Amino acid sequence: MRVAIVATIVCFVSSLVLAGPDDDNLTINGELEMITETVAPTHLEGFDVIYSGWRFRTDETQSLQIDDFDNPAMIFVDKAIDLFNTVDGTEGKACVSCHEGPEQFVGLSASMPKVIDGKLTVMEDLINSHRAEVMGAEAWKWSGEDMQSMIALIGLQSRGMPVNVAIDGEAAPFWEQGKEMYYTRYGQLELSCANCHEQNYGNMIRADHLSQGHTNGFPTYRLKQAKLISRHNRFRGCIRDTRAETFAEGSDEFRALELYVASRSNGLSVETPAVRQ
Ligand code: HEC
Ligand code: HEC
Repeated sequence: MRVAIVATIVCFVSSLVLAGPDDDNLTINGELEMITETVAPTHLEGFDVIYSGWRFRTDETQSLQIDDFDNPAMIFVDKAIDLFNTVDGTEGKACVSCHEGPEQFVGLSASMPKVIDGKLTVMEDLINSHRAEVMGAEAWKWSGEDMQSMIALIGLQSRGMPVNVAIDGEAAPFWEQGKEMYYTRYGQLELSCANCHEQNYGNMIRADHLSQGHTNGFPTYRLKQAKLISRHNRFRGCIRDTRAETFAEGSDEFRALELYVASRSNGLSVETPAVRQ
């Protein structure tokens, strides 16, 4: 199957240096085997096999995710453990006042986003509504360090589990909206997400090795920015690169796009917190 895909790319851009995903296996801390390659979910027409973004990174970047002692995102996970235990807000409560520990959230990240009470809900919503409603604390900034560290801590509880977001039932209209966005050409460059991540993955774009653009490792530690990056921040960056006006972090548009993009990684392991260039 891989041979067929590689052949297609060779025809498509024969002038570029060809470098598809590599053949490395990701086993974290010598024991947790990750699914970085699997059959694409049936709703995907663009390709037959999906690969984690990890498979497109250099050996050097890859190595940072193999052992938690080397993973620079773990500092933020540790900070989130402190936050989890810290009282904040007018009600005098910490997360730990009501939740035994982050382990309680095992599996949650693999199924997010999802529709709750008719609203497409992402992890940032769950955390902030809690802070406001039950703790009387200030909402955290969407892409701020506290928020993304907490999401990394919650995501870590699902590490290794396959992404499994629902796209049917109540989720269907949001998923359709996200799908439409994925194939819309934005900006002066008139490029859609699919133009880069579906039709050109494996190729080089400037100095970057293009992946399929999955979100299974988010929040992701980006070496370039030396911090945890939220999904919506990544979407903004990619849309800005097409020289388009972008949507706001936390907008309904980005929620829908988040659901659709997550559904494209159904079957890959949650890698949170991943390390990328
Ligand atoms: C006053 C008690 C209380 C505090 C404090 C609290 N929570 Fe919760 N939390 C709950 C209850 C009750 C639920 C389940 C019902 C619901 O979803 O509202 C819940 C649900 C959740 C969920 C969704 C779980 C799921 O499986 O859907 C997350 C995530 C969460 N809390 C995170 C946090 C975090 C992070 C903090 C601290 C910033 C926090 N909570 C503080 C009571 C609390
Ligand atoms: C001009 C090409 C281009 C377009 C268009 C583009 N991206 Fe990207 N994207 C990149 C590059 C380059 C990277 C960094 C290398 C990589 O991981 O693929 C990236 C990375 C990503 C990642 C991180 C992957 C990982 O493993 O961490 C996600 C998620 C992503 N893009 C989603 C999107 C979405 C959603 C859209 C449409 C709104 C989009 N991109 C449009 C070029 C593009």
